Amino acid sequence: MKKHAYALGGAGLMLGISLLAVQAQDLTGELPDPPEFSAQSEPNFVSVSDIQEYKALPEYHEPDWVTAKYVEAGTLPPVAERLPKEPLVFKTGDMPDGIGVYGDVMRHVIGGRPEGWNYTAGQNQGWGGIDIGLSECLTRTGPLFEVKADELEPLPNLAKSWEWSEDGHELTMHLIEGAKWSDGDPFDADDVMFYWNDAIMDSNVSPLNGGTPETFGVGTTLEALDPYTIKWTFKEVRPTQYLYAMAYGTFCPGPSHILKPQHPKYSDNTYEQFKNAFPPEYMNMPVMGAWVPVEYRPDDIVVMRRNPYYWKVDENGNQLPYLNEMHYRLSTWADRDVQAVAGSGDFSNLEQAESYVEALKRSAEDSAPARLQFGARTIGYALEFNLSANGWGEPDARGQAIHELNRNLDFRKAVSIAIDRQRLGDSLVRGPFTAIYPGGLYAGTAFYDKASTVYYPYNLDAANALLDGIGLIDTDGNGVRNLPDGGADVEITLLANTDYATDTNLAEGVIAMMEPLGLRVIANFQQGTSRDDMQQAGQFDWHVRRQGAEMVSVVQGTTFLAPTGPQTSYFHRAGTDGTVDTLPFEQELVDTVNAFVATSDNAERAELMKTFQHVFTENVYSVGLTQYPGALIINKRFANIPAGAPIFMFNWAEDNIIRERVYVPEDKQGDYELHPETLPGAPGGAGPV
Ligand code: GLA
Repeated sequence: MKKHAYALGGAGLMLGISLLAVQAQDLTGELPDPPEFSAQSEPNFVSVSDIQEYKALPEYHEPDWVTAKYVEAGTLPPVAERLPKEPLVFKTGDMPDGIGVYGDVMRHVIGGRPEGWNYTAGQNQGWGGIDIGLSECLTRTGPLFEVKADELEPLPNLAKSWEWSEDGHELTMHLIEGAKWSDGDPFDADDVMFYWNDAIMDSNVSPLNGGTPETFGVGTTLEALDPYTIKWTFKEVRPTQYLYAMAYGTFCPGPSHILKPQHPKYSDNTYEQFKNAFPPEYMNMPVMGAWVPVEYRPDDIVVMRRNPYYWKVDENGNQLPYLNEMHYRLSTWADRDVQAVAGSGDFSNLEQAESYVEALKRSAEDSAPARLQFGARTIGYALEFNLSANGWGEPDARGQAIHELNRNLDFRKAVSIAIDRQRLGDSLVRGPFTAIYPGGLYAGTAFYDKASTVYYPYNLDAANALLDGIGLIDTDGNGVRNLPDGGADVEITLLANTDYATDTNLAEGVIAMMEPLGLRVIANFQQGTSRDDMQQAGQFDWHVRRQGAEMVSVVQGTTFLAPTGPQTSYFHRAGTDGTVDTLPFEQELVDTVNAFVATSDNAERAELMKTFQHVFTENVYSVGLTQYPGALIINKRFANIPAGAPIFMFNWAEDNIIRERVYVPEDKQGDYELHPETLPGAPGGAGPV
């Protein structure tokens, strides 16, 4: 500290000279290519029509115990009556191991905790694939990792087909006909319209993954033409991009027959009461997904049983899923890796780089119970600045001063070049995994263009001079710079998620690297759910965040790339007056993203993303920290795991591997079912029956 204070004093004396020098100096540098690291297996690229179709089959089957115990007892209609007119049929040709058999469990371990079942109103279920398995969406993107690039378009799901009007402004979608929620209530346009009118369009309701009106385009309308037909009207011409927004997590309708009676518009409830109306103890929440929650023990487990009304089948007419049960052990994300490698858990997305070496070592043994397969570098972290100066997050005077600094390019640049990315990556794991990440789109992804990427390498001296230049001087000699004109020490809060070691390790690395820059950064480390709440509310100065699909696929989560609406950006949302105080370069990003959404011309899209990348990195919109590959760990007893399934691309691996088609061959089945030969009971009831 002492030595540092002295150094700062020196820099202060030379202010005039060093500032000029820095301004004249080109701070950009040659971006090193990421270390060679090839994915361990490639997908077999196919067309969407090779994966699935919708059609009636001559006969349908279900597990024998369902027929014997429920159908023959008269408590459940025959399977043919439970299925839609034309179920979604997975084609055998795309199943790596073919038609499966019934039985067994996938034992997940997760680090999150369920807040409740109302994802429509923003509650999370603990992540790790629970919500992905519960909610079905109009379209589906996870399996797109194996779809031929020139045929890329979301898979039909609850919407089984669609067509565009001549002028391209209208999109008519046909919903799957005669499908039912897991309690037998019909699924139809009422569910879709409730989600649209009373969740997306109701600004008091924020669905779990942040669907807002802008997600579907400003001025877009949706109407129901009949119980199985809906019509979208867009301002843009043929914006096929929105088909991606209709997938997980922004258009997965909830059960309106259960939700609507609790919504403030139709009841005396407040919005808070609506949100909390379905606590984790509420069992048998009706879902369209393959498994229904039937048991919850706090800090222990969530158990889900097969949905007797699931609307997908294989080509032999076997109702899916093959797996009877799903477990979600409520533990930690690190424990997910440990248990999957050891065989007491079945699945993990290996994504915390700190545990790679150990996991690799153990999985390399022949006797290892699980396969471990690395994919592309699609896990990445950034340091995000709260860019609102008009009240988002209701900062105090200190916070307000920091948010204003965040809006200063020299400040962001100084922070960026004070970070030694090589050292930061190596501190997580040594070896060819982590790569220097200048920010924006990840190297190696479809829209990335190196030539459009501005890289400011580590340069602590220049960083210090930049801060001198904007009048942040350590006037009281305590080693921390002061705000201009003899203001207080520059103290910045840094939000990070304690559910992941990587998040807090990176945040601690950032804090340490800010010390020689004379910035005091104070950790605000929060458990996942409160981290999410604080981020949503803008209660942070800086935030270390693992980024989403928008940085990988670009086509999924596109509108989150810039403040395209008042509530879309992760770090710049509307202030107290309801507007976003967009910076000029941000407006360029917004325009670029909107133009991207409005065109389906591939060449034009590539150009727009070059612009995006250039403006993003040149202006240090956020500070890229590191990017690295993840590995899918899956127990060897499972069949139908697609080759080259990435842990994260258009969605997480829990969707990518198409769990409803995954099975365990008879001779490998374990004795893991906690509620064998039972089905979900009545909504709100005690559990399985
Ligand atoms: C968490 C985990 C991811 C993945 C997702 C699924 O974010 O960290 O690996 O399982 O949940 O939603």
